[in-house]
Amino acid sequence: MSDTTSTPVEVRRLWPSDMEAYRDHLLRLDGRSRHERFGGGMSDDFLVHYAESCFGQGDLLYGALIDGKLVGAAELRSNAAIWSEQAPFGRHIHAEAAFSVEEGHRRRGIGEKLFRRIQRAASNHGVEVIEIICLPDNIGMRMLAQKFKTHFTFEESNLTGRLRARRPTPFSLMREAAGDAVDFGVAVFDAQWRSYVAAQSAPAEQERSNDRAA
Ligand SMILES: CC(C)(COP(=O)(O)OP(=O)(O)OC[C@H]1O[C@@H](n2cnc3c(N)ncnc32)[C@H](O)[C@@H]1OP(=O)(O)O)[C@@H](O)C(=O)NCCC(=O)NCCS
Repeated sequence: MSDTTSTPVEVRRLWPSDMEAYRDHLLRLDGRSRHERFGGGMSDDFLVHYAESCFGQGDLLYGALIDGKLVGAAELRSNAAIWSEQAPFGRHIHAEAAFSVEEGHRRRGIGEKLFRRIQRAASNHGVEVIEIICLPDNIGMRMLAQKFKTHFTFEESNLTGRLRARRPTPFSLMREAAGDAVDFGVAVFDAQWRSYVAAQSAPAEQERSNDRAA
């Protein structure tokens, strides 16, 4: 592993071309992290299907990448698919946020960066209230959310945290749109780069497995 404490972390929006990277990130979560993230020890099959369902209308996903590898992610999802169809002034939407940072990359501020990005996205996409559902013993998530003045209440054996998103400004809306456009370009580039690297390493991998078989 590279020196994760000094390597810069890039936070950007994830697009459908990032689906495989997101799936692989979820699959790398250990049992405890899966339990904390999903409220249950989810199987690989569940995570594969879950990742495939995450890029629909109304879903906003952000990733934290180190050296091009996705090591953390945050989702902001709502039943109301308003993101591109409606101006963000109605502000009546409640959306659920969820976070995951891989073991080995924690406690270096990645969760905090993702939280800040989710807050900004919520403001600029018409979300009034951000909700975070976590298990009562999930101290890490509770402490992270409390840094952002999230108010937690106990609901149906889980804790639900709520915080109100800020109102958007013309500048924040422009910045969001410009950021999305850049992130889209980077996502396409990253996907092509991953295919290129995979194609380059395939013959070498084949040679190694031929050697092993011989
Ligand atoms: C919760 C989680 C996203 C935090 O990610 P992270 O990158 O480690 O968080 P950060 O490094 O940005 O931490 C920010 C602050 O949160 C608090 N915090 C984070 N993890 C903590 C822990 N294990 N114990 C106590 N406080 C913690 C601290 O106040 C920390 O600030 P500090 O390091 O300056 O003290 C990560 O632990 C995780 O992925 N857990 C498994 C999945 C999960 O629980 N998801 C939440 C359900 S939606």
